[in-house]
Amino acid sequence: MATPSKKTSASKSGSSAQNGSSNKGKSKTQKTERSSPKGQDEQGLRKLLVDQMKDMLWAEKKLTTAIPKMIKKASSEELIESLTNHLEETKEQVSRLEQAFQAMNLKATAKECEAMKGLVKEAEELMEEMEEGSLRDAAIICAAQKVEHYEIATYGCLVTYSQILGETEVAELLNETLSEEKGADETLTEVSQNINWMAEEEAEEEDAE
Ligand SMILES: [Fe+2]
Ligand SMILES: [Fe+2]
Repeated sequence: MATPSKKTSASKSGSSAQNGSSNKGKSKTQKTERSSPKGQDEQGLRKLLVDQMKDMLWAEKKLTTAIPKMIKKASSEELIESLTNHLEETKEQVSRLEQAFQAMNLKATAKECEAMKGLVKEAEELMEEMEEGSLRDAAIICAAQKVEHYEIATYGCLVTYSQILGETEVAELLNETLSEEKGADETLTEVSQNINWMAEEEAEEEDAE
């Protein structure tokens, strides 16, 4: 009764997009790349991890300038507060990523993240087009949640990769960030409850005029 389970000892991370589902490939050539010397040429899963960390470093830095623009365009105090809190977390996430690079003996470098660039661009265009009010707030929440979901998916993968690779410190750092992203997403959902209804009421009032 062979259980084809690979060594995914730490697959209980908070990853939602991934849950250490590394059985799929059932690779016969299970290399022990986790012991690859630190700081050397990256390859395999380690390369994927590092590449994605570079992406996220760029993304988080971009968000430290994008979130303030959202705050400026938001009207709801609750929304402003939640975005402001997450801006502070985001700044912390930048330094957490830098620590993660350091833990792997690598220089922290950022690589332009096309996806985040697009999400931010879309959010900015939307905010420009819309007038101040609950509807714009609803749109800001929608844009912000797209960002959070992208981050949750990516950090979920990165936590899993770093666990498989035995990069415990990286896994811990990124898991902390993952929890913050999930928290931010949940808060936005809560904040949206009133705002979405207000947006609809405002539209009805306008129609009645
Ligand atoms: Fe983030
Ligand atoms: Fe975030």
